[in-house]
Amino acid sequence: MNASNPVILCVDDEPGNLKLLERTLGTSGYQVIKANDGREALDIIGSRAVDLVLTDVMMPGIDGFETCRRIKGDERYRHIPVVMITALDSKADRIRGIEAGADEFLAKPYDHCEVLARVKMLLRTKQLDNMLDDSYSNIHNLTSFGNRIMTSFRPAGFDLMLQIDSLAGQIIRKDADSAGRPSTVLVRILTGNSYEWYRYRYDSRELERSAIDLHAPLDISAGDRSSCFCKNPASLPQFRPLVECLTSRGIAVGNMTCYLSDMASVFALNYGREVTQFDATVLESLAMQTLFFMHLAIQIRESDDALAYTVHSLARASEANDEDTGDHILRVGEYCAIVAGRLGLGEQWVQSIKLHATLHDVGKVHTPSEILKKPGELDPEEWTIMKLHTMKGAKIIGDHPKFGIARQIALSHHERWDGSGYPFGLSGEEIPLEGRIMNIADQYDALRNARVYKPPLDHATTVKIITGGDGRTLPQHFDPQVLKAFIATAPLFAAVYENFADTAKQSERVSNTLATSSQPNEIAFRDQGLTAIGAI
Ligand SMILES: [Fe+2]
Ligand SMILES: [Fe+2]
Repeated sequence: MNASNPVILCVDDEPGNLKLLERTLGTSGYQVIKANDGREALDIIGSRAVDLVLTDVMMPGIDGFETCRRIKGDERYRHIPVVMITALDSKADRIRGIEAGADEFLAKPYDHCEVLARVKMLLRTKQLDNMLDDSYSNIHNLTSFGNRIMTSFRPAGFDLMLQIDSLAGQIIRKDADSAGRPSTVLVRILTGNSYEWYRYRYDSRELERSAIDLHAPLDISAGDRSSCFCKNPASLPQFRPLVECLTSRGIAVGNMTCYLSDMASVFALNYGREVTQFDATVLESLAMQTLFFMHLAIQIRESDDALAYTVHSLARASEANDEDTGDHILRVGEYCAIVAGRLGLGEQWVQSIKLHATLHDVGKVHTPSEILKKPGELDPEEWTIMKLHTMKGAKIIGDHPKFGIARQIALSHHERWDGSGYPFGLSGEEIPLEGRIMNIADQYDALRNARVYKPPLDHATTVKIITGGDGRTLPQHFDPQVLKAFIATAPLFAAVYENFADTAKQSERVSNTLATSSQPNEIAFRDQGLTAIGAI
C-alpha cells in the first residue's frame, strides 16, 4: 500500500461491517483505519491526517450524528468529508445527518460500487477544495512576500541570499499541515563565472540552507527565463542530468516545479500532491519579485555611484584655484559622517552628509587664486570676497532636492553657534544642523593640516583648541551637542586623518616649506574665519 494513498476512517460498532468496508476500500488502494465508536474516531482524527470518514449512525457512547457534528464544528477538521451510513428507509436519520453536517449518505445494505463511487467523488471534491485553499494561501503569501521585500528594501544592503532564504521559506513544507508543499527547494545562483547550488529543507522546525556540490548542466539559453511543472522530471531530457546528479547525492526527485533564468534558478521538489501550472506560476512570481528587487538594487547602486563620482569631480574641480590640501574634501565627509552617526541621525542622512560635505567649498571656484593662496593676512576687501564663497557655492549647487544638504552646508559651514560667523551671522539652531556639523569637521581638519600660512597641529593639540579655545577658536562657536559628539568620537577623527596617507605627506611637504618661508606671526586660519580680522 502506498503511504500517499488517501486515508479513510471507518467507524462502526459492528466488527463485521468494518471488515466489509476494509475489504471494499482496501482493494481499491485506500488506506483504511477502523474505529469502534465515535470517541475512538475523534481521537484518531486528532492524532493523524484523515482524508474521509465513513460512519455508522447508531453506536454506543458518541453516536454517528454527534461524531459528525464534532468533526464539522472543529475548524481544523471541518474540511474532512463525512459519509453517514443510514438505514435505507430512515428519512429522519438523513435529516438529522444533514443537520449534523454530513456530506453524503450511504444506505444499508450498501452496494460496493456505490461506496467506491461516492468515496472517489468526495475525495476529488476535497482535493479541489484543498487546491483552492492552497491558491488563496499562495496569493496571500505572494502579496505579503512582495510587501515584505518592498518595506525592507535597502538598495545598499540588499542581500540576494537572504531574499532567496525568504523565498524558500515561503514555499517549503514545514509540517504535516503543509504536506502538499515541496519537501526540498534547490537554488542555483550565478556567482562570478560559475554557479553555486544550495539546498533548503526544514529540519527541527528551522529552515536549513546547505551548499551542495552539483555540476548538473541545465539547458537555459542566454537571457531565457521560464517556469514549468513536471510530474516526472526524470522523463524529460532537459532535467534528466539534474535528476541523476541529485539521486546520486541521495536527493530523490518525485514531482517538481522550477523557475529557470541565467542569474538564479529555483527548483521546488516533491510536493505531497500533484503539481499544477498554478504551482509553477507561484514559484515564478516569487522568484521574479526577488530578482526584480535585486536588479533594482544594482541599478540604484550604480546610479548612486555615478552621483558620488560626479559630486567628487565637482568638488575636486573647485579645488583648482585653492592651495593643495590633499584629501581634505574626503576627510571632512568622513568626520561629518562620524558626528552625524553619533547624533543618531539615520543611515541615509549619514551617507548623504558624508558625500555632500565634499562640496562645502565649491564656491571657491569664483574666488581668485591670489586670495586663496595669499600667505599673509587678507585685507578687508579680500576678506569680503573670500566670504562670498559660501553663497556662490549654494548658487552653483542649486536647489535640487537631492542636493539640499550640500546646499545648506555650502551656505552655512562658516556660521557659528554664538552668531559670530558668516555669511549671515546666524546663531544657535538658526544654523542648519548639517552646517553646524560641517563647521567642526572643517575646523578640525584645518587645524590638523598644514597650509601655506600655518603648520600642522597634532590631534591632542587640535582637540584642546576646539574644546578649550585658543583665543581665535572658542568652544562657543560650536553647537554644544555637536561638540559633545566630537569629544566622544575624537579618536575616530584622528584615525580618519591618519588613514589618508597622502594628506600626511602633503602636510609634511607644506610644513617644510613653511619652515623656510613663513613668519610665525603671519599664520592665520583664513577659511575658518579665524584670522586676526576680529569679529568675522
Ligand atoms: Fe569654506
Ligand atoms: Fe574646507
